[in-house]
Amino acid sequence: MVGSKKLVSLTGDRPTGKLHLGHFIGSLKSRVELQHKYEQYIMIADTQALTDYFENPQKVIDNVYEVVSDYLAVGIDLNLSTIFIQSQISALPELMMYYMNLVSVSRLERNPTVKTELAQKSFAQSVPAGFLCYPISQAADITAFKTAIVPAGDDQAPMIEQTNEIVRKFNGLYKTDVLKECKIHLSNTGRLVGIDGKAKASKSLNNAIFLSDDPKVVKEKVFSMYTDPDHIKVSDPGKVEGNVVFIYLDAFHENKEEIAEFKLKYKKGGLGDVTLKSLLNETLQTLLAPIREKRASLKRQDLVEICFEGTKKAKSVADQTLREVKEAIGVNFFEKIQL
Ligand code: TRP
Repeated sequence: MVGSKKLVSLTGDRPTGKLHLGHFIGSLKSRVELQHKYEQYIMIADTQALTDYFENPQKVIDNVYEVVSDYLAVGIDLNLSTIFIQSQISALPELMMYYMNLVSVSRLERNPTVKTELAQKSFAQSVPAGFLCYPISQAADITAFKTAIVPAGDDQAPMIEQTNEIVRKFNGLYKTDVLKECKIHLSNTGRLVGIDGKAKASKSLNNAIFLSDDPKVVKEKVFSMYTDPDHIKVSDPGKVEGNVVFIYLDAFHENKEEIAEFKLKYKKGGLGDVTLKSLLNETLQTLLAPIREKRASLKRQDLVEICFEGTKKAKSVADQTLREVKEAIGVNFFEKIQL
């Protein structure tokens, strides 16, 4: 909604795979709600994904429209939200260039999210500068839209903190208020565990249920879920804590009372895993059927058009912020002399 006075919500996803139930519960659901209250921008973070996949760009390229399809399928409404592609907005790396002067290398190395990722990767002694600096790129994404809230998981909190540090430093140094601080908007469910119960649901660990999985695959995944290894006979008392089926029922089943009763019965003994898994399967099939149907109805040409229009709009907002930033520093030479 151009010209509206609503506060801005901005978030992004790296397009490295289709989105799954973890994304749905952790972020997509709240975006569908937030789009009614905020002016919402949703960014396909392809440039950021390349800091990890620069040797294999095709993987990023191939997933751009998969992720856009997932957005539309869950109910992102184009009258309320703007979807755009990061790599097509040159104001973002330009902003980043000015922000890079305000951040020390050691501060980047101390960013907890970067630290965790560095430990997982095998960069050895040669960490690419692009990877180390991606929190600054993210600060550019966020500030370019004067973002007030960022709906994201708690792993993004260090990025928001670093962004706000840059905002304060920039505004203080250049005696301006063009950049705005933002807040993270955490979903109240937290991270969703994978079907193996070992770690969070993720594509790379192959333990996630995707929004686009077909009914048969969903059922297979539900029936392979980790429950309680000591719950062998139906009459055995079972453990609810750490039981993936219960974790998913808590996250996705609407009737909380029914789940509470099931938990009591399971703990006492007398409730079998098959009954429980059938209930979860039904719950997920009901949730995913309309999403899958909507996804299948989307045409590539329309997706391209949607991203083009969204990117055009996002570009004009980011260009305006870049003008203000350059003016605050004083490097707006030609605008001053009205060329
Ligand atoms: N870092 C985010 C992720 O890995 C993606 C992202 C890029 C982002 N820019 C953003 C999220 C700006 C929120 C706001 O998922």
